[in-house]
Amino acid sequence: SGAGRESPMLLGFEAIPVSEDDTVHVAPGYSTQVLAEWGRSVSNPGILYDLPLTGAQQGDAIGSHHDGMHFFPIEATDPYEGSSTDGLLVMNHEYVEPRYMHASAIGQELTRSQVPTYMDGGSVRRVADEVLTEMNGHGVSVLRVQKQVNGTWAVVADARNRRVTALTPMEIRGPVRGTDFVRTKFSPDGTMTRGTINNCAHGVTPWNTYLTCEENWAGYFRNRDNSGDDQPREHQRYGVRAGISRYGWELADADPASNQEAYARFNAAPLAASASDDYRNEPNAFGWVVEIDPFGPSSVPIKRTHLGRFAHEGVVFQPAVEGQPVVLYSGDDARNEYIYKFVSAQPYHRATAGGHLLDSGTLYVARFHEDGTGEWLPLIWGQGLLVPQPINQGEDPDCTCFHSQADVLVNTRLAADRVGATPMDRPEWGAVDPNSGEVYFTLTNNTSRSEGQTDSANPRGPNPHGHIIRWREDDNNPAATTFTWDIFAMAGDASGDPISGGVDGAGNPLTGDNIFSSPDGLWIDPDSRIWIQMDMSESVMNVSPVYAMMGNNGMLAANPFTGEIRRFLTGSLGQEITGVISTSDQRTLFINQQHPGATVSAADFASGDIAGKGNWPLGGNHYGRSATVVITKDDGGVIGT
Ligand code: FEO
Ligand code: CA
Ligand code: CA
Ligand code: CA
Repeated sequence: SGAGRESPMLLGFEAIPVSEDDTVHVAPGYSTQVLAEWGRSVSNPGILYDLPLTGAQQGDAIGSHHDGMHFFPIEATDPYEGSSTDGLLVMNHEYVEPRYMHASAIGQELTRSQVPTYMDGGSVRRVADEVLTEMNGHGVSVLRVQKQVNGTWAVVADARNRRVTALTPMEIRGPVRGTDFVRTKFSPDGTMTRGTINNCAHGVTPWNTYLTCEENWAGYFRNRDNSGDDQPREHQRYGVRAGISRYGWELADADPASNQEAYARFNAAPLAASASDDYRNEPNAFGWVVEIDPFGPSSVPIKRTHLGRFAHEGVVFQPAVEGQPVVLYSGDDARNEYIYKFVSAQPYHRATAGGHLLDSGTLYVARFHEDGTGEWLPLIWGQGLLVPQPINQGEDPDCTCFHSQADVLVNTRLAADRVGATPMDRPEWGAVDPNSGEVYFTLTNNTSRSEGQTDSANPRGPNPHGHIIRWREDDNNPAATTFTWDIFAMAGDASGDPISGGVDGAGNPLTGDNIFSSPDGLWIDPDSRIWIQMDMSESVMNVSPVYAMMGNNGMLAANPFTGEIRRFLTGSLGQEITGVISTSDQRTLFINQQHPGATVSAADFASGDIAGKGNWPLGGNHYGRSATVVITKDDGGVIGT
């Protein structure tokens, strides 16, 4: 549907080959620089802390696992206009690699994401300060970054430099505020909570604030010793597990920093709860989109509950139009989950726009019809099937009924199930073409979709490599409740095979210049150049024959007018490429390398000799550190030309 538009020369660079090197390669004529490594002090950015990190050091340092990010030009009020040499780089820290963080991990056989524990009188425990380090490694960093006279970029000291972590107090706004769902020991009136976790992609509001999105938060909590139907539905439908949580924060031992209760809350088992340790509502305070004002270093982040509760990958806005509603999209990244849209009740006016626009409106979920049309199904309490009583005889009222708009929002997935949304192949990032209003979403892969479960929007079963879907709202009205869609490209190899073969936006089979897998990060620049970032899981990358030909994760660019795709960048060992934004002059591009070195084996880690196995960016025998990569064109030109 790019047809009919002018077709500017968008892809002026030479495609580069796949790579399994432990370095970042970029197209000829471009250069890269490392910026904002995990562990760099935010108060004194000249200091890069050595690993391991104490809890206090990590609280003052850039977090780990860099993900979605935006460059806010300094002293500007528009998030895309202003200085191209000075700004606030704001980024998410999705999760952490405990074995690289702690002194107690050294020498132990630990795989990625495994935590060091110890036994105390028959109980598994964790060192409290190690828990603090991990919680402080999560969240968001706000960093003043400036281009230096020598042309390189640096993080510099600034009063706005800030860490938002898994412990930062936050306000709850929107329909869920003050309801029984979010009353906790920390906030008996249900208006506050602490922290944000698993912040994957992000969003940028038209009023110059940052949105950070809580994706795989459910795994950070535990419920009870055995999973079962008696878990509350607001835990169960999201996968709050039995047993031990992802990092076992609830197992923290005696805590010198008085955060004991903030750690204990990750045990959300209602049956185990006494009045003093009843944390059953803590998981209900997660799964939201959180608004942060990067220019207000003491501002309290706000969880915007009207945008729904699910595994939010990210948020992307349609360009704001004076007097029209604000419209945004968000994907729920889990197998067979949904794509959502929010339309504000109040119109956008530049002079008065603010986060309150996200507190009233309508949340919709997408249904993709087989014929290339689609509709947005409203999740409005009291309408249709979202009512307090069963509609059909024999229905289980606990699972299908809703008692308030807050109930619909806390249980967004159940409401979307109920209205008949289309299960998708893991919706990750979205992007809006600023010149056409067309919306693109990456569907990263879905190995659990069977041959018999395909539909025209998710046409492969299984879908090992993913695809990119695109739609246009009817009448080019962002608030429309109907749309037309097509598939922009199928990711995959060069085999031409219906399951594994990739196809570009012109219908041509992919080649060595553009094979890719597991599209995740996505951004469309002001010229309509589409930037596509890869996230093959570190458990399959360079190992599984299905993915081996892809090499390391990388980044490609696509031309929506011609459908052509070219590989622009390849990353180092073990990482995924994620996060992408340019300065407003498009002459500096920032991307992130997340979890370099994740593929280091437990045995290699224990041996202490990991040289050559994922040591970016410091090299030698160092642990990998997530960091930003600054990309410039050697002739000073626009990135991509
Ligand atoms: Fe955190 Fe869906 O990627
Ligand atoms: Ca992602
Ligand atoms: Ca991903
Ligand atoms: Ca990731």
